[in-house]
Parts: sequence; C-alpha cells; structure tokens
Amino acid sequence: MIISSDKDIHGLKEAGKIISDIRDHMISYTKPGITTKELDHLAERLFKKYGAASAPILTYNFPGYTCISVNEEVAHGIPGDRVIQEGDLVNIDVSGAYKGYFVDTGRSIVVGKGEQKLIDLLKAMDQVFDAGLAQFKAGAKMNRVGHAVHDTARKLGYKVIKNLTGHGVGSSLRDAPEHIYNFYLPWDNALMENGLVVAFEPFVSIIDEEIIELDDEWTFVGKRGGYVAQKEETIIITKEEPIIVT
Ligand code: CO
Ligand code: CO
Repeated sequence: MIISSDKDIHGLKEAGKIISDIRDHMISYTKPGITTKELDHLAERLFKKYGAASAPILTYNFPGYTCISVNEEVAHGIPGDRVIQEGDLVNIDVSGAYKGYFVDTGRSIVVGKGEQKLIDLLKAMDQVFDAGLAQFKAGAKMNRVGHAVHDTARKLGYKVIKNLTGHGVGSSLRDAPEHIYNFYLPWDNALMENGLVVAFEPFVSIIDEEIIELDDEWTFVGKRGGYVAQKEETIIITKEEPIIVT
C-alpha cells in the first residue's frame, strides 16, 4: 500500500507494535526443550489477546499462527513437535493484521551457546540488513536495495538467497511491488514511491543461493542444505529515512 494519511501511519505503527511484541515474546521463549508448536501456541494466545489476526492463516490457511524454521529450514517452517536444542538456528517470522493493517517481521536467532559460524552469520545478516535499509528513499531506484544487499553479503564472504524476496505489504500480506530482490537487477527501473509500505527481508547464507520447497508444500530449505539467516521489518518509505513500524 501507499499511505495516504497520518491515520495510515498510525494504523501501521499500531499493528507493528503488536506483531513485533508477539515476535519478541516468542524469541524470549525460544529455549532448549520447548517445541515449535508450544511457541506457536504462545503466539496464538497473544494474537487473541490483542484482537489481531495471523496473516499466514488469513491469507494462505497456513497450518500455524507463525512460521518457525529450525536449522536446515529457511522459511515457512510449520510449528510442530520439533524440540528446540541448544545451538539451533531458529527463524521466527510473524505477520499479522490489526484494524485492517498488515505488517510482517522476522528474525533469525541462535539458541543459547551456538557455533561460531552461526554467530558470524547473524552478524553478517545484521550488516547486510542495515546496508539495504540505508538504500530506501522515495524517488530512488528500488534495485539499489538488492545491489547493496548482495554486495555487502559478498564482501563479508556470504551469499544471498535469490528466489526469496521482500514485498509490498500494508493492506494485505502481499501488496505491490510483488518482489524486492536481494540481488542487483540492472534492467529494473522501478522507483520507490513516497509512502510505499514494504517488507524488507534479506536472506543471507553460507552456501545456498536458492531454496526449494519440501513435500509438505510449505517448508523451504536451501538447495544445498546450508544455513540461512533472515531479518525482516515492515517499513514506510519516505523522502528521509524510512520509518520502521515493526
Ligand atoms: Co515474514
Ligand atoms: Co515477508
């Protein structure tokens, strides 16, 4: 969506506060011994408490309130009986709607004491995210985001997942633009509109550049089976710095 008033900014911030609170609660409970289903139950209770809706259920009839992806799973992991272990790489992705406003946010974390290569991966993911975020400015070309994302990842010795992208958000889980690529497309001349609401979500990886879908028809894993980290925020593009609502 493109915001048309302060009411929209307020509505997105309100939804953002709720959904990021659910995300942060889930992260604080992501400890060895808990199952991903239990984490999702926590999210369910919070969605109900706030009177907010889970976007994956609303939009795709996803079998869970949130997506929880562990280790080899990259995204769209289905909450279930999997028990979180010390050192796991866990991605928690929460998207939801409140009073008609949709927001989307995600984080990869390492549980407890993790391997150094995972800690390094998360550090790289933060740097890549910040480099991409700095490119969002009304009037500029959208493709400079992917350029900065891929370039930063490459310089740090990492790869990006090319078939997962950011996207427009706000009035639905997936608004226009359909894709915000995490690599450079020279022919893409699309400009960033003032007030455009997007979910920016780079995926940084150790070896993979592509994900494939498992037979459950939801879970994405790296084609080469390596570790992948993601960070996602919903932002409003302005002529100055973007407004992060999640
Ligand atoms: Co998401
Ligand atoms: Co998203």
